Amino acid sequence: MRNLTIDAERLWGNLMETAAIGATPKGGICRLTLTDLDRMVRDWFRAQAEALGCTVTVDDMGVMFASRPGQRADVPPIAMGSHLDTQPTGGKFDGALGVLAALEALQTLHAAGYETFAPIEVVNWTNEEGARFAPACVASGVFAGVYERDWAAARQDRSGTAFGAALEAIGYRGAERCGAHPLSAFFELHIEQGPLLEAEGREIGIVTGVQGVRWFEATLTGQDAHTGATPMHLRKNALLGAAHLIERVEGIARAHAPLAVATVGSMEVRPNSPNVVPGEVFLTVDLRHPDMAVLDTMEGELTAAISEACAPLGLAVASAKIWDQPPVHFDEACVAAVRQAAATSGLSAREIVSGASHDAAYVSRVAPTAMIFVPCRDGISHNEAEYSSKEQCAAGAQVLLQAVLDYDRQLADRYAAGKGG
Ligand code: GLV
Ligand code: MN
Ligand code: MN
Repeated sequence: MRNLTIDAERLWGNLMETAAIGATPKGGICRLTLTDLDRMVRDWFRAQAEALGCTVTVDDMGVMFASRPGQRADVPPIAMGSHLDTQPTGGKFDGALGVLAALEALQTLHAAGYETFAPIEVVNWTNEEGARFAPACVASGVFAGVYERDWAAARQDRSGTAFGAALEAIGYRGAERCGAHPLSAFFELHIEQGPLLEAEGREIGIVTGVQGVRWFEATLTGQDAHTGATPMHLRKNALLGAAHLIERVEGIARAHAPLAVATVGSMEVRPNSPNVVPGEVFLTVDLRHPDMAVLDTMEGELTAAISEACAPLGLAVASAKIWDQPPVHFDEACVAAVRQAAATSGLSAREIVSGASHDAAYVSRVAPTAMIFVPCRDGISHNEAEYSSKEQCAAGAQVLLQAVLDYDRQLADRYAAGKGG
């Protein structure tokens, strides 16, 4: 096959250009899903794709597909992509790298006039982060048939705005029904968001799967009371219950070391006044482990911890599981294409299981899927300091393009042998 090489400078230029949309003073990005900033970066992406002659379609969850035709319009596209939304203090690479490297791969094909067998698409998934509308990976979940569209559209942010209304407001509710878009395969490039590749000096992670994740929301209710006039033994302090619970959540992860992780990442204290005993606390719990049986045990321990933390303090608790994503094993042929692509590109690689979740985890339920990781400095992510070098980003984009072309050739062979479709 002809050796196509992606343009590292162009990719870096696009990363830096889009990083200005929602740039934070500390060098990160705050581009929450379905905000005006999200609309701006979507408009940028659409214009870039259309300039390459791609057709851009949008589904009713706001998922964007930029399609470049192949020889066979009747073969479902091979897709690559990730997300353009970020955390409130997000970095420049989480999500953006996967979309912009995919765009770079298309630009490389376009510049070379290379004709693929299947159409090739770049996908921008809506609300991967779950920072504004919990849980994460909502649109890819609808795409995979895990979530109902109406349930997703009704998800509310903490100010009460619904996902569907926010999608309408930025003009990105498309006509296509989410999920009615068959894919021959899906490849997602992402920064590792952890320390393993950097520690071992490897350039590429061949991602074989994603660990399981469960999210819970809990509201602890006690009683607002005067801090000066209410004796300690008469208080129902919801924040004290939350403090006990946070310690217990930490203990749950440590009891299942080294693979378990558990986090209380979000908390709202009401009324949040120095001289009111807090009467109500809302908080979230994030539990993760690669083994479903261990996750079950951790969930049981959380349930016990919630009542043991709250009952002695006289607190009422309302809790709910809002995300349950089982551990995922990616498609062997797609993983093999990534392995081969790293070898062809002369890059050092190791297999890795993703600690973070990704849209690829849901997409893998409905299309053969794999992921590619590149290292990030000190393993830091979901942080404005998140950084991968120009060379690291380019290596990932090169492997992405190579894996897609490898898979495209395999697909052509399968169809020629009458086994496609
Ligand atoms: C997505 O960023 C996750 O929560 O893993
Ligand atoms: Mn991401
Ligand atoms: Mn993220």
